[in-house]
Order: sequence, then structure tokens, then C-alpha cells
Amino acid sequence: MEVITPENIDEALGVEVRADQSHVVSPVVKSLAEAYAFGRRAWPRLIRCDGQVVGFLMAFFDFNFARPVAGPDLRSGLWRLNIAAAHQGHGHGRFAVDAVAAELRRRGTTRLTTTWHVGHGSPEPFYLGLGFRPTGEMSEDERVGELKLQV
Ligand SMILES: CC(C)(COP(=O)(O)OP(=O)(O)OC[C@H]1O[C@@H](n2cnc3c(N)ncnc32)[C@H](O)[C@@H]1OP(=O)(O)O)[C@@H](O)C(=O)NCCC(=O)NCCS
Repeated sequence: MEVITPENIDEALGVEVRADQSHVVSPVVKSLAEAYAFGRRAWPRLIRCDGQVVGFLMAFFDFNFARPVAGPDLRSGLWRLNIAAAHQGHGHGRFAVDAVAAELRRRGTTRLTTTWHVGHGSPEPFYLGLGFRPTGEMSEDERVGELKLQV
């Protein structure tokens, strides 16, 4: 897991999911632009394994995408997860979720929130398999799910 730096930013921008998945997650370039705007509430990281770049994740802290304007119901969790097409199915997605969970626990947070596209290409089975449960909310057209964390 690496902080995005001038040295690795081109590698981060080169992470691409499969073409038939491009509608379910934003490209890394958009996430990095959002990370700039969100400052300390965004936590973008490059995922490297055995020297190879295998993916990108971005966590968020203390924000509520389901209700961005109203209310004090601040949440933290996984905002983006892009495992490179050639590296899917090798446990990197699970590793990424575990890494965000560890960071949230370190910050004293007891639930990890995320959202996922529903419909063709949905990663819902991946999230449900990791123990996420739908909260019953939608954030725009994405389902909101959460994972309870043991502190
Ligand atoms: C969804 C995604 C993050 C999964 O990452 P990954 O590295 O391929 O997944 P892992 O290898 O860590 O899989 C972990 C478990 O989930 C299962 N799994 C992964 N994707 C799955 C899918 N689409 N359907 C069913 N199960 C899936 C794996 O079989 C594995 O189960 P196991 O541990 O019982 O063998 C990756 O495919 C991806 O980047 N997809 C495109 C973008 C996306 O959907 N991002 C998430 C929403 S923003």
C-alpha cells in the first residue's frame, strides 16, 4: 500500500479495470482529482504486490455520500476500488478492504461504509462475500453497504 507520490502517480493513473467494468467505477484520474478537493477526508493508495502495481483504492473519512448536505451522520469507508484487469481474482480486492478496515480501526471507527453499482458487472457478490450488508439506502444509483468492524 503506497501513498501517491510524484514517483508513482503515473503508475496509479495506469491502473485500468476490464473494459466491461468501466461503468461501475470511476477511473483513477477522477479519484485523484477528488482526492485533491477532499484533502484529508480522502485516502488514495496504490496497491503493489511483489513489486507489481495491481490496483488502486481510495478511502474516505467523516463524510456521508448518501446525505452529503444534511445531517451529522458522518461515515468513513471505501470510496473507490480498482483492481487492474490482469490482476483480478488473486485476493487483492480482499486485501484492499482489509487495509481500509485496519486504517478505520486505527482511527477508532467501528463500521466501514461503501457503495456499489447494481446491475450488469456489479461487484455486489464480492462485497457480500466479505461480510458487507446493505443498509437499505441508495446513494444516487448505488447501493449503500456496511461492514461492522471489531475494534
Ligand atoms: C470487484 C473487485 C474489486 C474484486 O477484486 P479482486 O481482487 O478480483 O477480488 P479478490 O480476488 O480479492 O476476491 C475476494 C473474494 O471475492 C470473490 N469475488 C470477487 N469478485 C467477485 C464477483 N464479481 N462475483 C463473485 N465473487 C467475487 C472471489 O471469488 C473471492 O472469494 P473467495 O475468497 O471465496 O475465493 C475487482 O474485480 C474490480 O476492481 N472490479 C471492477 C471495479 C469494481 O467493481 N470496484 C468495486 C466497486 S467501486
